[in-house]
Amino acid sequence: MTPDLVLGIESSCDETAAAVLETPRTIRSSVVASQIPIHRRYGGVVPDLAARQHLLSIDTVITEALDTAKCRFEDLGGVAVTFGPGLVGCLLVGLQVAKGIAYARRIPFVGVNHLEGHIRSLFIEHADVPLPALFLVVSGGHTALYLMRRDDGRYDTLARTRDDAAGEAYDKVSRILGLGYPGGPVLDRLAKHGDSKRFAFGRPKMTDGSDDFSFSGYKTSVLRHVEATSIARLGFMDPDDPDPRAPQPSDCPQPVLDLIASFQEAVVANLVHTTMKIAREARAASVGLAGGVACNSRLRAAMAAAGKEAGVPVLTTSLALTTDNAAMIAAAGYSRFRRGETSGFDLNADPSAAN
Ligand code: KG4
Ligand code: ZN
Repeated sequence: MTPDLVLGIESSCDETAAAVLETPRTIRSSVVASQIPIHRRYGGVVPDLAARQHLLSIDTVITEALDTAKCRFEDLGGVAVTFGPGLVGCLLVGLQVAKGIAYARRIPFVGVNHLEGHIRSLFIEHADVPLPALFLVVSGGHTALYLMRRDDGRYDTLARTRDDAAGEAYDKVSRILGLGYPGGPVLDRLAKHGDSKRFAFGRPKMTDGSDDFSFSGYKTSVLRHVEATSIARLGFMDPDDPDPRAPQPSDCPQPVLDLIASFQEAVVANLVHTTMKIAREARAASVGLAGGVACNSRLRAAMAAAGKEAGVPVLTTSLALTTDNAAMIAAAGYSRFRRGETSGFDLNADPSAAN
């Protein structure tokens, strides 16, 4: 079954998103309404506020996606929606709306795992993803390595984080330093002005010898360095400022910039080391980076260099497709529809869905 136009809906966390795809690789529209200004004052996503904001935004976002794609509900051949993992109240909003559209228009709908969506984002811009491919999905909620042997909708999890996600580490370190939320983009920018060798960070190792990741120790190390160096918290988290200005390098004392650069280098080295080790062992023909942290300029450069040295192509995608969006959900849905897969109306939200 190949539907004509697929509507994708994503509402698992703090972005309300809708997109229309004409083919698995042709985006007609992709609309993302970010809730960052709402959650910024709390230093992280507040689940109840997020769910309520999805309810308020979803109609407008879908209408805008259809308008931009120059189509109407009648033109849709299928609806794909994130059913998990994510915040349950948030997932339910997208899921119920998708079911409503599918029921009213009598078109198929399919539930998509958010992490599969991130993986499929790479297939939108790359016609050829050499298989077996190893995907590093690295975001605010997840950090894991998945191996795709064949393009059959199955993924083997080869490593995952035992505690925090890498993006969570960025967000927590930014919070410790008083640099605002979300932390990733800010720290990425500021790290360019620091000396990454100034502060020491060890690489966490699993006592059971597994390749799993662990990121919770980084914030503890940052705290330790902050105390030892008497670094003061900067004031970029004023909860009453509706539109805070982004911190600039000139706002930060040199030790803060050096600490950020050292933290980032340690996280990136950890991600690159484990990814390339597993890629070698699994004889991966390519490595793909997906999820918000895959926007990180240092991670992209370091993984590309490691891939070049190992003779394995490293694939990334444009920044708009790397962070949460609905085009990736529509793309994943499209490939499931093509295999004849659909979901029943009894599909429920699954906050801890595994791949
Ligand atoms: O994939 P995503 O948009 O949402 C989730 O599924 O979590 O990822 C958001 C995460 C946040 O933790 C954010 O700080 C991080 O991605 N992030 C970055 C960068 N841009 C976003 N982390 C490091 N460097 C970046 N440039
Ligand atoms: Zn995500």
